[in-house]
Amino acid sequence: MQWINLAYLVAAVFFIIGLKGLSSPRTAPRGNLIGAVGMLIAIVATLVNKEVLSFGWIIAGMVVGGAIGVYIARSVKMTAMPEMVALLNGFGGGASLLVALSQFIITPASSQTTFWLVALTLSALIGSVTVTGSLVAWAKLQGYAEKALRIPNQNLLRVVLGFGAVALSALFIWQGWGWILVLLVAVALVLGVLLVVAIGGADMPVVIALLNSYSGLAAAATGFVLLNNGLIISGALVGASGVILSQIMCKAMNRSLGSVLFGGAMVSDEQMAHVPGKEFYEGKVKSCGAEEVAMLLEDARKVVIAPGYGLAVAQAQHVTQELSALLEQRGVEVDFAIHPVAGRMPGHMNVLLAEAEVPYDKLIEMDDINPEFSQTDVTIVLGANDVTNPAARDDPNSPIYGMPILDVDKSRTVIVIKRSLSPGFAGIPNQLFINDNSLMLFGDAKSVLQELVRAVMEL
Ligand code: TAP
Repeated sequence: MQWINLAYLVAAVFFIIGLKGLSSPRTAPRGNLIGAVGMLIAIVATLVNKEVLSFGWIIAGMVVGGAIGVYIARSVKMTAMPEMVALLNGFGGGASLLVALSQFIITPASSQTTFWLVALTLSALIGSVTVTGSLVAWAKLQGYAEKALRIPNQNLLRVVLGFGAVALSALFIWQGWGWILVLLVAVALVLGVLLVVAIGGADMPVVIALLNSYSGLAAAATGFVLLNNGLIISGALVGASGVILSQIMCKAMNRSLGSVLFGGAMVSDEQMAHVPGKEFYEGKVKSCGAEEVAMLLEDARKVVIAPGYGLAVAQAQHVTQELSALLEQRGVEVDFAIHPVAGRMPGHMNVLLAEAEVPYDKLIEMDDINPEFSQTDVTIVLGANDVTNPAARDDPNSPIYGMPILDVDKSRTVIVIKRSLSPGFAGIPNQLFINDNSLMLFGDAKSVLQELVRAVMEL
């Protein structure tokens, strides 16, 4: 038993070193590997435990689950990563819920201590909220569910269900009745739906990180149910890192965690009514062609590329690097402006650009690049939209007001590459597209950039 706990301790050290590695794109792959080795140590330690009665089901589960995991990891598109993370959070919460229920069934009442019942309640409660919350988040990101569904009196309902869950938890811990546990799980499952269904737009990534944290907390509680130190440590690490990530993202959007959780109601009807319709752009947009942009680039000394979700959709990272290298050969200084929530997952742009071998020192974080825009000749906004919307900075009535943005509009000329005037994730028009110093270059980012590379070469 001591050896097992020692192995869990070693695994925990691996997890912590792995997490540290994930803080920079340069060290992230190694961090990932170290974390995975830690998990392997924890799994092997658990399997050598004498309490394991039969390996048949465990091995079958590992083979089937492992095969599905390998398939998903290999086939998932980078743009669909948030959906996958949402689903995996749900599986984590679901596993905790099932373990809690099965432990309740197999543990005789005489062995159910108050402490054990508290842990089991937390595991079932948080696990249930995580399952349905994650499934709703997944459905929203897949486009199966409406982005932000407004249910009448949703906040009141959440509060009532929240108090109901607390009361049921207390009753269950006091009496240990199975039917109360079933009722608690049912209430928590509905609560999970209600917590996420009203959240939409730019708040979704925060919700995913928060659900990730919940799945960790549920696992830690399950660790107390099973008295498994490995599960307690790894669950606590997931719980803590999820909360920290949620906070970092909230900061990037200038929102508080509370305002995200109750977000659906905090975007007032007045704000929604203020969002302009299609007439916003009428007669005010200037578009241009690749040759025109190539000429602007030829005269530029400093160019900044501000990538967004469209870069990922078009898979234009390699041709972006080609353009950047070509401009540098011609003596132009090129940098990439990285917004913390550009794309659809934390670090999305870093991952894409690293794939195309854009040097790390060219990726400049928002706070460092923003003062540079006023000295930039041309900024190319590449499939980005919300993260460049000046309304977030200038219009207190905008639903995204207060979210920090890339100040691309301060450059001398802004070229916006996207397919149409469609809005981004937040669903609102962008003032940038009608500014005097903006030019739209319409088309799929990859084809447009290929044209642009040709045009620059022909200069
Ligand atoms: P968005 O505001 O979502 O805009 C992306 C733009 O890309 C769209 O307006 C779209 O316009 C364009 N696009 C799509 N396919 C394209 C293609 N093939 N070629 C060229 N353009 C294409 O993206 P953003 O500026 O990166 O902002 C991210 C948004 O997502 C924020 O609101 C953020 O809060 C939210 N969000 C972020 C995360 C994380 S953690 N990063 C997770 C979930 C949500 P067209 O259709 O006209 O081409």
